[in-house]
Amino acid sequence: LEPYRVALYPGDGIGVDVTESAVKVLETAESTFGTFSLEFTNFNWGCNYYERHGILTPPDYAQTLSKFDSIFLGATGWPAKVPDHLTADVLLGLRRQFDQYANVRPARTFPGVKTPLDCDVDMVIIRENSEGEYANVGGRFAQGTPNEVAMQTAVHTRRGVERVIRYSFEVAEKRQRQKLTMITKSNAQRYAMVMWDDIFEELSMEFPHVQAGRQHIDAAAMNFVLKPESFDVVVASNLFGDILSDLSGAITGSLGLNPSANLNPERRFPSLFEPVHGSAPDIAGTGKANPTGAILSAALMIDWLSVDGSASIAGDAIRAAVAECLARGESTPDVGGNLTTAQMTQSVMTRITHKL
Ligand code: NAD
Ligand code: IPM
Ligand code: MN
Repeated sequence: LEPYRVALYPGDGIGVDVTESAVKVLETAESTFGTFSLEFTNFNWGCNYYERHGILTPPDYAQTLSKFDSIFLGATGWPAKVPDHLTADVLLGLRRQFDQYANVRPARTFPGVKTPLDCDVDMVIIRENSEGEYANVGGRFAQGTPNEVAMQTAVHTRRGVERVIRYSFEVAEKRQRQKLTMITKSNAQRYAMVMWDDIFEELSMEFPHVQAGRQHIDAAAMNFVLKPESFDVVVASNLFGDILSDLSGAITGSLGLNPSANLNPERRFPSLFEPVHGSAPDIAGTGKANPTGAILSAALMIDWLSVDGSASIAGDAIRAAVAECLARGESTPDVGGNLTTAQMTQSVMTRITHKL
């Protein structure tokens, strides 16, 4: 078997712990099923590297990562050590340079995990990941003076919007409910967001089987809480998708549960897989980090790497093992269990091997 070459970027805080969990689970699935093979290369970049070198990564880090089949990232950021926009930019730069325009963020409830709302959710948030509100356009003028003006310009291109909406229709079409909701704020933002509306209407003609609807972000935030079951596939701009994905984590019971895939659907560049959550300085080093989001991101990575589907049995086994652990309370404190990150990971590994 030709191995898939995976770059590991554990990063900061709990990113390191949950990356270790994901790797262990992948290695277990690899040896249990024998349907794929992985070769990991570790990069210890991030805030500790910054303390030694004065930079977060070597300048050519994207060039280095471009040689891999995929990238697995834990989390970046340690605001007490490094200004948060600098660490964020390393990740945002990768998403842009590798044209990972579809950020796929599944969110589901699990039997056995208490949720703040009484609901049964199975949704996928697809976030535009290459432009929009995250375009680095703007500046601070007359900085520090009473006349200071800061501009943070959002850039939405027809090409960029069309491709992520099209991708979302394709995902919706393959799902059982075949429902797609687009989130904008086109009543207040009349240029870019009305373009989103126009493109959405145009594309909906091409996907007659998909039930397509639109909501404004304010109403969507309310509906995520009042009727979360009503959402199937959700597509949103970069910032709105970011906000809704943390909200989806709150709804499913913990932000620690939710995985993500930053995809370059054309496969011209490596895609990047990471849990939705950040480095969680408040629990770093305590063994309390829930590894589920990272482990499920690893399963998404296997699905993605194995283009012919030959490894999907491993991805499914990982998902089943995680669900079983959660159902039995073999889990971390955020979801009501009393296991450490390493213990929960061990439970997932045991369940994968015992299934055979
Ligand atoms: P966060 O996601 O790190 O944490 C938010 C809350 O959720 C915290 O209370 C944390 O303890 C909890 N939480 C997060 N993941 C958890 C897990 N796996 N298990 C249990 N509880 C978990 O968000 P934040 O505190 O706003 O940000 C901390 C740092 O992480 C910042 O530097 C931020 O910029 C960065 N960040 C990075 C990423 C990323 O790398 N993709 C994502 C979000 C935030
Ligand atoms: C995420 C994070 C990042 C984002 C931060 C770290 C810049 O919140 O992956 O959701 O906003 O995209
Ligand atoms: Mn976020």
